[in-house]
Amino acid sequence: MIVKSLFVLIISIVIGYVLYKKQLVNDNEIEQEIIASWSESIVLPKKQFRKLLVGINSNVDLIVPGVELLLKLNITPGNDFNHDQLYTLDHLQETFSHFFRKGSAAERAFMDDKLFRKIVSEAEKLSNPKFYIGGNAALIGNKIAQVFPEVELHLVGPVGPKLQELLPSSITVPKISHIEKDEVHLIMEYQVEEVWGPHRAPVATRFITSYDESNSKATLIEAFFQYIQNYHPDLIILSGLHLLEGQPSEFFSQKLSLIQAELAKVPNAIPVHLELASMVNKKFVKEIADNIVSKVSSLGLNEQELTFLSHAAKGPHSEYFETIQGQPEIHKISDIILWVLITYGHSKENPSYKLTRVHFHCLTYHIIGIHPSAWSNNPSAVGAGTRVAGIQACDVESPDPDLVTLKFPEKFKLFSGDKERSLNESKPIITWKKEGFHFALSPVLVCKQPLKTVGLGDSISATGLMFSEFVSNVNS
Ligand SMILES: *[C@@H]1O[C@H](CO)[C@@H](O)[C@H](O)[C@H]1NC(C)=O
Repeated sequence: MIVKSLFVLIISIVIGYVLYKKQLVNDNEIEQEIIASWSESIVLPKKQFRKLLVGINSNVDLIVPGVELLLKLNITPGNDFNHDQLYTLDHLQETFSHFFRKGSAAERAFMDDKLFRKIVSEAEKLSNPKFYIGGNAALIGNKIAQVFPEVELHLVGPVGPKLQELLPSSITVPKISHIEKDEVHLIMEYQVEEVWGPHRAPVATRFITSYDESNSKATLIEAFFQYIQNYHPDLIILSGLHLLEGQPSEFFSQKLSLIQAELAKVPNAIPVHLELASMVNKKFVKEIADNIVSKVSSLGLNEQELTFLSHAAKGPHSEYFETIQGQPEIHKISDIILWVLITYGHSKENPSYKLTRVHFHCLTYHIIGIHPSAWSNNPSAVGAGTRVAGIQACDVESPDPDLVTLKFPEKFKLFSGDKERSLNESKPIITWKKEGFHFALSPVLVCKQPLKTVGLGDSISATGLMFSEFVSNVNS
């Protein structure tokens, strides 16, 4: 009797396990199919970029437990108040408390150099300070060096001793990039339900502060452009303009006209990619649109940046940035990309304009629009960018269908006026043509439990570029 029961029990367990496994397999069938299609269809271009110049923002991210740091600094909990800029330890305490209580991520500039250095040196003495590469340019360089070790890559951006140590040795950091002390961005993390005085954090997030002279004033921008003359790169990647947003409007405009003049001098044969980052000042964004976007060959941005650009420069769906909820609608995003390409791209009316490529990335899908006489291998470029998003967020070596999920609309249109479509998982990369431009879209397999989200956009854009082929500049 006992033997029989045991037998039944074992059989049940085996059957249960088999059913459970089958369920798992069925659950991620779509993801498996997309990954398989990517592996089949994504190919490197015939002629790859081999000599890169990347700049100009780089720093060390120092991550510490925020409350522990405040205690170490002998700061006691007190009022909460939202200061725009931090001059004292009280300002730090009050502003930290303000966002800690609300549980929202925030970043504030620290205005006192000496005091900030003291805070950093205390932070370094905590039990487990973690140092990471920070700044879009350094993150882009790091990604390319990891995936394409044979590529020659020079980084012009502020690099102190610590960052130098963190960067892969295959990245060349020229003398002009060296600074005596690292620009440190202090990331004060806290956990959900953590307590600071009378406050309890409703979610886990972070408060960031830095005194960052080099990056906030783009002090290396002249050196960056001068470097081109002797180095002769075949691709230039520029980022960090958003950090100028903290400067007075006159300073901002002066820097921008300098950048504009320098961009005009870059030989037509060398494409320049500009990676944008989040900005809130409409006037500054309009200035970038008017003066810079038509002077670069390629632009990388996310949904906030693209829709805000359209708002600032009066493009289509110009109020959309205020109402986006969840994932942005594909046809609206693609309308805006087309408008950017037409408005800032080369044409009979604007023969000196250079823009021929826009790489859009958001959590759930990416689109790249190109001028086909300037770029090729576009479907692979967009596919490679989406594939790396899931890999990096999950912090794995290759796509894992169990860890990711497709979050794509069941029905969508590719542009306004298009018919309704649905995704074919066996052919996830969709291509179309509009007004002489070629578009490619790929869904992202979104990481279910992301571990690494810092620099995700940078990795996506870097990968997309390395899978793109620059055929020729339309102007040359
Ligand atoms: C999906 O794509 C595959 C591969 O190209 C094709 O064979 C199949 O017919 C497509 N399915 C639909 C419903 O269009």
